[in-house]
Amino acid sequence: DSTLQGSLQVAVGGEIHQIAGGEHQALTTNQGVALSDNQNSLRANPSGPTLGEDFILREKITHFDHERIPERVVHARGTGAHGFFELTTSLKQYTTARILTEVGEKTPVFTRFSTVAGGAGSVDTPRDVRGFAVKFYTKEGNWDLVGNNIPVFFIQDAIKFPDLIHAVKMEPDRGFPQSATAHDTFWDFISLTPESMHMVMWIMSDRTIPRSLRMIEGFGVHSFRLVNDSGESTFVKFHWRPKLGLQSTIWDETVKISGADQDFHRRDMFDAITSGNFPEWEFAVQLFTQEEADTFPFDHLDPTKLIPEELVPLKVIGRMVLDRWPNNFFAETEQIAFCPSHLVPGIDFSNDPLLQGRLFSYHDTQLSRLGTPNFHQIPINAPKCPFSNQQRDGHMQMAQQAGRVAYEPNSLSGESPRETPTNGFHSAAVTETGVKGRVRAASFADHYSQARLFYISQTAYEQAHIASALVFELSKVEHVHVREAIVGHLRHIDEALAQRVAAGLGFGKIPNAPVPARPVQEMQPSPALQIIGKM
Ligand code: HEM
Repeated sequence: DSTLQGSLQVAVGGEIHQIAGGEHQALTTNQGVALSDNQNSLRANPSGPTLGEDFILREKITHFDHERIPERVVHARGTGAHGFFELTTSLKQYTTARILTEVGEKTPVFTRFSTVAGGAGSVDTPRDVRGFAVKFYTKEGNWDLVGNNIPVFFIQDAIKFPDLIHAVKMEPDRGFPQSATAHDTFWDFISLTPESMHMVMWIMSDRTIPRSLRMIEGFGVHSFRLVNDSGESTFVKFHWRPKLGLQSTIWDETVKISGADQDFHRRDMFDAITSGNFPEWEFAVQLFTQEEADTFPFDHLDPTKLIPEELVPLKVIGRMVLDRWPNNFFAETEQIAFCPSHLVPGIDFSNDPLLQGRLFSYHDTQLSRLGTPNFHQIPINAPKCPFSNQQRDGHMQMAQQAGRVAYEPNSLSGESPRETPTNGFHSAAVTETGVKGRVRAASFADHYSQARLFYISQTAYEQAHIASALVFELSKVEHVHVREAIVGHLRHIDEALAQRVAAGLGFGKIPNAPVPARPVQEMQPSPALQIIGKM
């Protein structure tokens, strides 16, 4: 016998076996039965068939056969970490939410970054939006801020989301490409969906080829509401700003990195956190009233619009530090379930029709992804404050409710949970009037002003990158009418950009494109940006 790192090795029948001993536990079945041999299945004789009675083999293989769960229907490829949020400025005047009023309090968080289109095993560095989802384990329950690294979205209404994703994902007949944007179906959908043009400008910019996940911004995208102790509500947009600054690669670098290291962003985050180089973000808000919103030249409930900082400046109110890599990727990063409807008292939704659809979608998809209505009991999803209600049973129930009472109200149990009228969750008191119908607000109709604002606020080289990206992506599109339609949209954004892309695609002149519309809103970037733009 010899000792190897605390375990024992013994020779049995001429073979070396490692056995329990020293610091090692015994290897057992799921029923706790110690295994004598983990190298050989039970056979009728050394050259004979394997016996069906080998429960040890069957248990091991059966569990292996069921290791995979469905990947997320979008945002399947992700990287997450634990950390904390610390409030530095109180918003007490606007909200009762403790996480936004208790300065200095550190709230645990788990943050997951993701790409949108690729599968769970896809490369980290395609041109794609990055998800930026934060679960705050507050003392008043879990609050999930499920955002992206781009402040606007492709579509204005959640009913278009399945179409968008079907156009973005690999095509159903051929199962490729994994790339979100370089193919016919994506551009076909986009060309017929003018509301996506603002987002398309951001997607074609270097923001979608980040240098590191530690260097991306995050946005809650939609307007939310904060509600104070008098029941008054204020609109809010949430922002994350990386301490390391926003940094991107250029396309040629991205292409090389994608080939050389498919896990480039995940490895970078792992290396940073495990070496004590903790990534950090500032947390900022834009606060505005309904009266102020009424003066904006766009509708803040339209998720294809942002609120320029010239109109509503950012107010930095806290910071997030990610300082602990998960112990187990599957248990934490894979099983975490974010949901925009996870709110805490003092925060509420707006009527943004994209947000309203998201409120339903996440929990619904997670019922099949995680396979049980009890997935909130998985440790990464469970609140870190006490939680208790009369829901019971269901697949994989872990909670053991004691006693005979599982309903409310009741008079039989003094200990069962009760409503909390004072500081429980109250929806903002909002008056709704009007006629029910499948209609879109007229205020959502301007699709080009902010696309133009974004484009003209870019530096000369950033504009060149956008033009090159459009040429590269559109050159993968087989259908010429789709290419032409996109060039037509670009004319509404910037004539020079349209010309540049048309030339890059080999069109002699802009073909069959409609005459550009007059701008609905002639928005200008701030003076500082105009100066940079001339560089
Ligand atoms: C997943 C963001 C729009 C449905 C995600 C994730 C993020 C995200 C960050 C990944 C969560 C994670 O890391 O686990 C956004 C943003 C949107 C948006 C910022 C628009 C502003 C929508 C819409 C729908 C939707 C409109 C549906 C109507 C989903 C679904 C998942 C998902 C089903 C998978 C959730 C899971 O399996 O855990 N989204 N999304 N998203 N999103 Fe969205």
